[in-house]
Amino acid sequence: MSERRQFSAESIEYRLGPYALRVEEALKKELMAYSNSRFYRLLNYAIEGGKRIRPAVLLLSSEALGTNDSKPMDAAVAIELLHTESIIHDDIIDEEAYRRNKVAFHIQFGFSTSLLTADFVFAMVLSIASRYDDKRVAEEISNAALRMAEGEYNELLVDPKGNDLKWERYMEIIQDKTASLFQAAAKLGAIIAGGTEKQISALSDYGRCLGIAYQLRDDLLDWDSKDKITHNMIRNMGESELKERMNSEIRTFAERARQDLSLVRSCPATELLRDLVDFAVLRKH
Ligand code: IPE
Ligand code: MG
Repeated sequence: MSERRQFSAESIEYRLGPYALRVEEALKKELMAYSNSRFYRLLNYAIEGGKRIRPAVLLLSSEALGTNDSKPMDAAVAIELLHTESIIHDDIIDEEAYRRNKVAFHIQFGFSTSLLTADFVFAMVLSIASRYDDKRVAEEISNAALRMAEGEYNELLVDPKGNDLKWERYMEIIQDKTASLFQAAAKLGAIIAGGTEKQISALSDYGRCLGIAYQLRDDLLDWDSKDKITHNMIRNMGESELKERMNSEIRTFAERARQDLSLVRSCPATELLRDLVDFAVLRKH
């Protein structure tokens, strides 16, 4: 690794800062449209504290294909809101008490309010999608939402006491529940930038592979919290074998994501997308 390519997860987050800030501003503005709603204060709690990785991927994908206008920002906000809606539900399903160093939404506001807020957030996503004349925008968002639900449900069906979860099914689950949204983000960035079919498909695969590596890393970071999926597989293949396999697959998908970028012109945005792969692999939170 050359000196220029040395970095830490922290420095990548720092370089993503301007993108995260722009997303922050746009998210706040989108929420402001609902400032008279009773949901307003809940929405603010729900969006607070995220790293904004997915919307950054969308903006960078657009920029890598030469778009520097504000067109992709609405879609970036929609992607972050879809993520927001999904974590409200996910924390209920997983019985998590904390998220983003604060009390999880359902603990703070209760189940009923969580269900309704997530409904509201989903409706906000629909409203944003309808602003694009290009039907592919709504299609990609809907596809991601469908797959996220499929992935979560398949995970729910995993026996917490079992040892029958095969690697292939685990990969299917994480591709659906997590990678589908990363994929939609990168793909939408390319679509909105007016990319060619080749560029759209390269960035789509980039997002998919990045998302897989991101979730594998997440499961390794959560190792001690005794996630039921991890545990099912540990019983099946042994703890150190599973860890080894996950680390090796992270490397494989990270490499594949980098390869996908070779089809995109080299520019600062592409460089950041490449570094995001390293962030996915190295991140500590
Ligand atoms: C957490 O996603 C859920 C996963 C799919 C791993 P993030 O790590 O992007 O969470 P925030 O939005 O930054 O809190
Ligand atoms: Mg979960």
